[in-house]
Amino acid sequence: MNYFLPFTKILLFSVVVFLCPLSLPCRGKDTLTLGESLQDGDTLISKGDIFELGFFTPGELNRRYIGIWYRSFSTKLETILWIANREKPVTNLSGGALTLSRDGNLIVTNTGSDVLWSTNISTPISSNQSRIVQLLADGNIVMNNSDGTTVWQSFDYPTDTYIPGMRVGLDLQTGVNQVFTSWRSKTDPAPGNFTLGIDPGRSTQLFVWDGGRPRWRSGRWNGQIFIGIEKMIPTYMYNFKLSNYDLEGKMYYYTGFNVSHRYMISWDGTDQHLIWSETSRSWTRFFAEPTSPCELYNQCGNYATCTEIDGKAGFEPLCMCLKGHIPAKENEWNYGNWTSGCVRRVPYKCEKEGNNGTDGFWRMQRVKLPDLSELNPDVMDEAGCQASCLNNCSCKAYSYVSGIGCLVWGVHLLDMHIFTGRGGNDMYLRLASIELGQGKKKSVVVIIVAVLVSSFALLACTYLLWRCLKRKKGFVRWRKEKGEGSSNAKRRKDVTTELSGVLKITDEGQLLRELPVFSFDAIITATDNFSYRNLLGEGGFGPVYKGVLPEGQEVAVKRLSKSSGQGMEEFKNEVILIAKLQHRNLVRLLGCCLQDEEKILIYELMPNGSLDAFLFDDEKKRQLDWRTRYKIIEGIARGLLYLHRDSRLRVIHRDLKVSNILLDEEMDPKISDFGLARIFGKDDNELNNTKRVVGTYGYMAPEYAMQGIFSVKSDVYSFGVLLLEIISGKKISTYYNHEFSLYLLGYAWKLWHENNLIELVEPAIRETCSSAEVVTCVTVALLCVQDHVNDRPTMSTVLIMLESGTTASMSPRQPSFAAIRGPTNTDSSTFELANASITVFTGR
Ligand SMILES: *[C@@H]1O[C@H](CO)[C@@H](O)[C@H](O)[C@H]1NC(C)=O
Ligand SMILES: *[C@@H]1O[C@H](CO)[C@@H](O)[C@H](O)[C@H]1NC(C)=O
Ligand SMILES: *[C@@H]1O[C@H](CO)[C@@H](O)[C@H](O)[C@H]1NC(C)=O
Ligand SMILES: *[C@@H]1O[C@H](CO)[C@@H](O)[C@H](O)[C@H]1NC(C)=O
Ligand SMILES: *[C@@H]1O[C@H](CO)[C@@H](O)[C@H](O)[C@H]1NC(C)=O
Ligand SMILES: *[C@@H]1O[C@H](CO)[C@@H](O)[C@H](O)[C@H]1NC(C)=O
Ligand SMILES: *[C@@H]1O[C@H](CO)[C@@H](O)[C@H](O)[C@H]1NC(C)=O
Ligand SMILES: *[C@@H]1O[C@H](CO)[C@@H](O)[C@H](O)[C@H]1NC(C)=O
Ligand SMILES: *[C@@H]1O[C@H](CO)[C@@H](O)[C@H](O)[C@H]1NC(C)=O
Repeated sequence: MNYFLPFTKILLFSVVVFLCPLSLPCRGKDTLTLGESLQDGDTLISKGDIFELGFFTPGELNRRYIGIWYRSFSTKLETILWIANREKPVTNLSGGALTLSRDGNLIVTNTGSDVLWSTNISTPISSNQSRIVQLLADGNIVMNNSDGTTVWQSFDYPTDTYIPGMRVGLDLQTGVNQVFTSWRSKTDPAPGNFTLGIDPGRSTQLFVWDGGRPRWRSGRWNGQIFIGIEKMIPTYMYNFKLSNYDLEGKMYYYTGFNVSHRYMISWDGTDQHLIWSETSRSWTRFFAEPTSPCELYNQCGNYATCTEIDGKAGFEPLCMCLKGHIPAKENEWNYGNWTSGCVRRVPYKCEKEGNNGTDGFWRMQRVKLPDLSELNPDVMDEAGCQASCLNNCSCKAYSYVSGIGCLVWGVHLLDMHIFTGRGGNDMYLRLASIELGQGKKKSVVVIIVAVLVSSFALLACTYLLWRCLKRKKGFVRWRKEKGEGSSNAKRRKDVTTELSGVLKITDEGQLLRELPVFSFDAIITATDNFSYRNLLGEGGFGPVYKGVLPEGQEVAVKRLSKSSGQGMEEFKNEVILIAKLQHRNLVRLLGCCLQDEEKILIYELMPNGSLDAFLFDDEKKRQLDWRTRYKIIEGIARGLLYLHRDSRLRVIHRDLKVSNILLDEEMDPKISDFGLARIFGKDDNELNNTKRVVGTYGYMAPEYAMQGIFSVKSDVYSFGVLLLEIISGKKISTYYNHEFSLYLLGYAWKLWHENNLIELVEPAIRETCSSAEVVTCVTVALLCVQDHVNDRPTMSTVLIMLESGTTASMSPRQPSFAAIRGPTNTDSSTFELANASITVFTGR
């Protein structure tokens, strides 16, 4: 009997929790008074209904813990933020309690007097004082004396999760470091191997330790970002701040985000940033570190760099000794054991000749600067930094980092990662001049090096060329059809009449998916000989028909007109692209047909057609209420993010517009028409130049329309335009406001500036919209259509803004509507290639 008691309680409790939002009177309480207990099954609920404190079971049934979880930001009891008795679970399923005991301590008891956990406050309560425990609205449990002084709070004793409002870190006076400690396993909340905290060496770096040994470090804070995190580029979205530690005596990070963000050290040792998405009602991982081999602390040993290369099994580390250094243990090194690292080959000159020595510096780029740096506060510029390092023989390297200052290394150079994307800093490595090719042997060394380098380059080129050719060949392999006649004869008999072959799409030698190739006859049957009754619409490159396959499946058949601009090249491009891409917000290609002059693509049929048929139709536009429009916007953003970042190919669409967005039964959007899409590789400069500017007027980013330069950011621009069209129900090309003579972008900008965005919303649905969401959407749209490539956010940032409903403190710059008005006075350097931006958080 006893055994079942808690289950009834749990059941009862979940019923209560479930019903609670419906009825006000059952609102839970948030305080415990002196002597009061919280029994298993009861909970405290914070004001605002966001947090809840109570008993839970993460794994084994007979282990109960007391902790705090989200009441609002979680679908289940899955997100535990804080635990009191993580080391000693309650094992008596009916006897557990959390009590504010008479001596003024908060205790967890198993049975009666069996104390499992206590706040251990030694100061007793004075006779005329009382004490109270309260779960505050920010998720903090505080214990206050009746005079209001707080004697204990849970925020000072974090478990594994940071939530906004916490101020935990390194106490510079006492040296006490409050760290976050991972769970032992997915289901065991006992303290695990991993801890996350601030470098006790006061370097402002965050560390993840594994059993006390460093596992990962963030690099120093430069006021905006941690310089050692490759995925973190200076944008506005992080919202981290470092305490003013000189003043406060305590070094900690805090965030301007509110409750829909959290950071945790997960049981597997990764530091994660998670964001609550209201639409999907789930937590999404924004970033996690370390996730690739070079991010692991000192992967390659001292005096060596780690570079990530694309290996057979994903990313692999490539370790290389620094210039002028050789492996400490050649044998081990050659077997891939890098723990011993490298050592300097020749001593510095200053070590032999005193401070007269003429050592030099070797510049390294895109470096995650080594650990154990010292800040030289007296130096204010790069030249001074170099001089200070040159004049001190124990200085092994220096780097001048804006936002931080002059960093020098005197101990060892360790944990160096060479970033393959952007980010990282320049570092100057001290070397004896002989290593730098100066001095007597200079010319000989130079010649040898030159010969070596050029022959290597030649080899590399040959290899790349060979690979390139090989890949092209293997890219599309047509299975040879048997003789036309015999296949015709066979077709009549065979059940698989429709398929005349299979197009194999290979990716890096691996078979990804086989794409059916239909015969032209089968297409004629399916579309009733391209009957006009089956005509769905006219796409960019030809008509689209509805078709029915013999199995009854309805499909959309796109027949590329012979006169269309889409030649064989575009056709293959589209086939290969879409066949490889699979995402719920991308239209799915079911097959193709290539016969004589005919080029036909078979897609899944989207019953609701394209978005423009709704948006710009007087009757149908009402079906797109605000909720639906927001859902469509998010869906397009997800599809685009997949194209840009998450698909294996990384694709720029180049022709994003309302008529290329299709809607399925649930009005979920699917991006279609990849005829113009381009693949960009990881090695590409992420920017491309084309002489053939194709696309749709009005959606084209200025740098693309005018200079033919395209990048993921040109898609972002088109997305911004799309967003404004969806919100306003007005076409970019036709929209013209009499009063102000401004086009859609200018009109949106003007309303944004006047704080009157509701005016922009399609009048037919205005009453269904949420003004906060309108503000978010329009702000995002205006950020996307900014003139400068670098100013535009990436799609991952866009999605975060849309999902979290925050655009932080970002203000878009006024767009110059260049593409619409024609060339403006914007100088051409505006669109320089140099710093063009890149996907921020490379998915791995
Ligand atoms: C569990 O707790 C209840 C209530 O305090 C007590 O009656 C019971 O004896 C306890 N059971 C065990 C096995 O300690
Ligand atoms: C309280 O003190 C006891 C005994 O000193 C110790 O075992 C326990 O870990 C302490 N609890 C906390 C929460 O510090
Ligand atoms: C009672 O409380 C007051 C202030 O709240 C304090 O000044 C006084 O000393 C207390 N008396 C005793 C006996 O603790
Ligand atoms: C306890 O103290 C905290 C912070 O000092 C305060 O926000 C809270 O309202 C207090 N609660 C009670 C019940 O006194
Ligand atoms: C924690 O460390 C122990 C001992 O080194 C090891 O056996 C265990 O697998 C580690 N746990 C995790 C989650 O890595
Ligand atoms: C988070 O902050 C944003 C903007 O500051 C606000 O719109 C949103 O309602 C907040 N969310 C919660 C749950 O407080
Ligand atoms: C690598 O070398 C270090 C130092 O010589 C040694 O302690 C370690 O066991 C080696 N590791 C492996 C996997 O062989
Ligand atoms: C430094 O160089 C000067 C002249 O170049 C020489 O006279 C002096 O002895 C050198 N000092 C040392 C410590 O080598
Ligand atoms: C030389 O550099 C080392 C290491 O950076 C430092 O500890 C030492 O104080 C420096 N010496 C002088 C004279 O600056």
